Amino acid sequence: MTKLRVTVPATSANLGPGFDSLGMALAFYDEYELETIQAGLEISIEGEGANSAARDETNLIFRSIKLVFDSVGEKLPGIRLICRNSIPHGRGMGSSGAAVAGGVMLAAGLLANKQFTEQQLLEFATKMEGHPDNVAPALFGGLTIAWVDETGPHHKKLTVHRGISPLVLVAPNEMSTKLARSLQPESVPHTDAVFNVSRSALLVAALTQSPELMMSATEDRLHQNYRASAMPETSRLISSLREKSHPAVVSGAGPSVLVLEGDPQNRLEAIQYVKEAFSDWRALALAVDFKGASLERQSGSGS
Ligand code: HSE
Repeated sequence: MTKLRVTVPATSANLGPGFDSLGMALAFYDEYELETIQAGLEISIEGEGANSAARDETNLIFRSIKLVFDSVGEKLPGIRLICRNSIPHGRGMGSSGAAVAGGVMLAAGLLANKQFTEQQLLEFATKMEGHPDNVAPALFGGLTIAWVDETGPHHKKLTVHRGISPLVLVAPNEMSTKLARSLQPESVPHTDAVFNVSRSALLVAALTQSPELMMSATEDRLHQNYRASAMPETSRLISSLREKSHPAVVSGAGPSVLVLEGDPQNRLEAIQYVKEAFSDWRALALAVDFKGASLERQSGSGS
């Protein structure tokens, strides 16, 4: 019998201008425990998604484990999975990225003799998720730049400046990433492309060296406006915060909001404002997670 436990961070993707490329891991975690059993699949879910997430073979963690086994031609053992979820579902906080990264790490733990590289883990996770901007920080932590070329997905992990104090404002409602993506145009004006190239390059500098540049660095013309009609309250909240010089952006595909504050005092002011003006939104003052998904083999279990 093998018993494994993986802890996976929430993530915020895009970070404003870095559409489908930039992501950040946040110190807010789901925990999945796996035990091999004689045969079959048993899933129990506590916390977020307990009333909605699948408990059969369509479960995203299970499908991610299976993808790894299928990719290397190995036969799946019977599996008991216990999910202790904290990351809200459908809010743009990387719950599906966490499920995928967690599933891939559990599979890697079951197939320990294969000694998968970081690159292979990212390839499995991206194959499941479709784009690497959430799974890269979920797997590796920190701030990640992810890109895809003809050989597959890649990532570069960077250390976030110590002064950055992230704030996630969790929307009271859910939003489908599929719907958000359907609102994107096929092509964008050249001037908007140039605008985002400059801002996303600046954002890497702001997040690693110069937090004082964060307001300009978080401007975007590639996705947020196109999606605004599907999440009007998100738009309203971002505009009011930015008017007060809080660098707010849509977290992932929304509808939650990420504020990349350069110091803790500004973060307190933003929390106070949200409490007063958007009282049904939950404010989470979070640290950046630097470690990413972490796998533990429980004592007394073999491989
Ligand atoms: N980059 C993705 C998007 C993140 O904005 O659609 C959500 O998975």
